[in-house]
Amino acid sequence: MTNSSPYALAACQPGMERALKAELAKLRPDLHPGFQRPGLVTFSATVKPFGPGDAPPAIFARMWAASAGPCATLDAVVLTAQDVGATHLFCGTRDPGDDAPPGVLHACAHEAGRWEKRLAPNFTAGPPKRGDVVLDVFTAPNEPPVVGWHVHSSGRHERPGGRFDYEVPEDLPSRTWCKVVEGLRWSHAPLAKGDLVLELGAAPGGGTRAFVEAGARVLAVDSMPIDPAVAAMPGVTVVAKRIGDLRLEWLPPDVRWLACDAGIPPEDVLRAIERLRPALPNLRGFLLLLKLSDDGVIRHLPLTFERLKQLGATAVNARQLPANRRDIFVYAPIAPRAAAKPASAKRPGKAARPKKHQASKPKPSAAGGSRR
Ligand SMILES: C[S@@+](CC[C@H](N)C(=O)[O-])C[C@H]1O[C@@H](n2cnc3c(N)ncnc32)[C@H](O)[C@@H]1O
Repeated sequence: MTNSSPYALAACQPGMERALKAELAKLRPDLHPGFQRPGLVTFSATVKPFGPGDAPPAIFARMWAASAGPCATLDAVVLTAQDVGATHLFCGTRDPGDDAPPGVLHACAHEAGRWEKRLAPNFTAGPPKRGDVVLDVFTAPNEPPVVGWHVHSSGRHERPGGRFDYEVPEDLPSRTWCKVVEGLRWSHAPLAKGDLVLELGAAPGGGTRAFVEAGARVLAVDSMPIDPAVAAMPGVTVVAKRIGDLRLEWLPPDVRWLACDAGIPPEDVLRAIERLRPALPNLRGFLLLLKLSDDGVIRHLPLTFERLKQLGATAVNARQLPANRRDIFVYAPIAPRAAAKPASAKRPGKAARPKKHQASKPKPSAAGGSRR
């Protein structure tokens, strides 16, 4: 076996295989879908072999590897590793899905542990370094493992199956903490200490907490209450308002990042951003969790991304990460001083701007009422 393969494999969220294949049909029409399992799709490389350094930038693929397909025995897995020069092992369960019953989760974890224990002595312990060849082994109860390999680098997945390595605190106000931690880790967004994040749809505060723990200050906008422990974190200013009620002159000009996890359709997110953007002259990027409520939203994503570019984004990177459910993380950087081209909104007059950071100026409003 050479280092490349006639086949590729990608891991995705169980249930999103169709979306991944539809995306690849446009992004890499030379990759034809083949054998698949929930959360795992293989492709035939019809034009040139798929290299272990290849990783098409698909939204719905958590990770890529050159594929050896199913390997029935331990010897077959070890032989594959030797053939491709793999020195490190990523062995883990094929994602059983968030709604899998505890018994299934237990069986999956047990099977992955069993294979890892048998395989580990054949590999170098510890995380791979840049340039190391890693064997990707996907296990599932009563199935032979599916095996692939990739060349490690900072842009590649850091754990088996594209998962991330972090401890989940027990006292989280919401799972959005995980989504933001993974999104920042995956995107390498250059969030600097003290950067101000305008976060739309912040309650109960998982995302706010993750941004603050990453060193940022946060203007947390929501009409619903923010968890008191999060609201009391240094650098957090709560703006108890509906997004539609935010006035442009309230926004401090040093906002660096616009984050949104309001659980509203991407179209509404875009409208809100288009209205606010003129008051955010020093924005360095968008960090968005976009809800994929139906297939139409998925088909519309290229147009959504195009509108972010019209708002100054120089690129739009999107990925459905392991912590995501029916949503994706979007990182769209903005070049310093990029001119936005909003369709309608007006820049507030200089006199209307607060001189200093006065984000807490709007009086907290009672939660409730219609949104937007
Ligand atoms: C999915 S939850 C957000 C979770 C939150 N980001 C976290 O980290 O815990 C969606 C939030 O968006 C808020 N929201 C939705 N539409 C809104 C609007 N128009 N104005 C203000 N908040 C809104 C809801 O009140 C809700 O708290």
